[in-house]
Amino acid sequence: MGKPPRQHVGGPTGEGKASVTCLLTGGAGYIGGHVARRLQRAGHEVVILDDLSTGLPARVAGLPLIEASLVTDPDRLRQALTEHAVHGIVHLAAKKAVPESVERPLYYYEQNVQGTIALLQAAAKADVRWTLYSSSAAVYGSTGDGLVGEDHPTAPTSPYGETKLAAEWLVRRNAEAQGTAWASLRYFNVAGAADAILGDRGVFNLLPIVLRALDRGEDIDVFGGDWPTPDGSCVRDYVHVEDLAEAHLSAVQALEDGRLAAGIFNVGRGEGVSVLAMLAAVARAVGRPVPYRIVARRPGDPASVVADAARIQRELGWRAYRDLADIVHSAWQAWAQPA
Ligand code: WQD
Repeated sequence: MGKPPRQHVGGPTGEGKASVTCLLTGGAGYIGGHVARRLQRAGHEVVILDDLSTGLPARVAGLPLIEASLVTDPDRLRQALTEHAVHGIVHLAAKKAVPESVERPLYYYEQNVQGTIALLQAAAKADVRWTLYSSSAAVYGSTGDGLVGEDHPTAPTSPYGETKLAAEWLVRRNAEAQGTAWASLRYFNVAGAADAILGDRGVFNLLPIVLRALDRGEDIDVFGGDWPTPDGSCVRDYVHVEDLAEAHLSAVQALEDGRLAAGIFNVGRGEGVSVLAMLAAVARAVGRPVPYRIVARRPGDPASVVADAARIQRELGWRAYRDLADIVHSAWQAWAQPA
């Protein structure tokens, strides 16, 4: 039996919705900062909890920021949930470097799985009504060359992907036991930026790697040129981080309105872009050639991972509006203008 809906004091704010207090774990991160800004602009009260291991306070200036680790600071977590009368949690905090997860699996399970357990345990004692989880296309592992739907088998090929899937299970099972609402958003390849302050400072993914190599006058290593794809390089589904933030707002509003009780949603554009096509898009944006060399394939890479994002459009009314040029141009602008 679910908990009765909490009444709201004060009327609708922002875009006509009653404001609720959302706790964003990892909210000072690259994606978290974009989500925090979008929720705040829609009229929601946003509280940030972040261990600042990679998060930047400047991304969330003006918002309540609790510096705490989910794993080592359970008291501060409980305090944050009760002091701010948190109604819903957007759980973004996680370690997400795939190669590092292979070297340090126990650390990744501790941070991403144990951290989620600690969060859900504290939330159950604090009358939290819904949980929105930041998941990843990494839960699918190797996929065929077609579009990947949410019902595609999940067979993660890295400890990182395993921890994201395990945390999805925890969020779902806990919500079912507690009678609360939940949703998981499976991000495909997120890139771009709203501005320099929110830009991605972690150089772990293709686009920031390319931009740094351009700065340094270095060639880009293209991991494999003999994949079963149109131009032989790997294909991915790149989605603008601001479109991703909109997807979070759509999910938060649906969870808060009671229109969404449970669900898993792919967040992508549904359009495959190869590594070589990405390099060509960067060359167009920066106005100069992008030198590269084809090197050996990277272990664990699938040839193609492209979202079927029909469910989120059908059920939450969300789709991406920004295209590859928007993604590349915004990333370059943010990279070129350090915060
Ligand atoms: C993209 C493509 C590489 C660097 C990761 C993780 C996870 C998820 C999405 C959050 C691949 C190729 C890359 C380089 C290259 N994020 N590449 N040369 O591996 O698709 O997915 O990001 O959940 O972090 O699953 O992203 O940016 O590492 O690689 O050729 O120097 O670029 O082979 O095809 P990936 P990526």
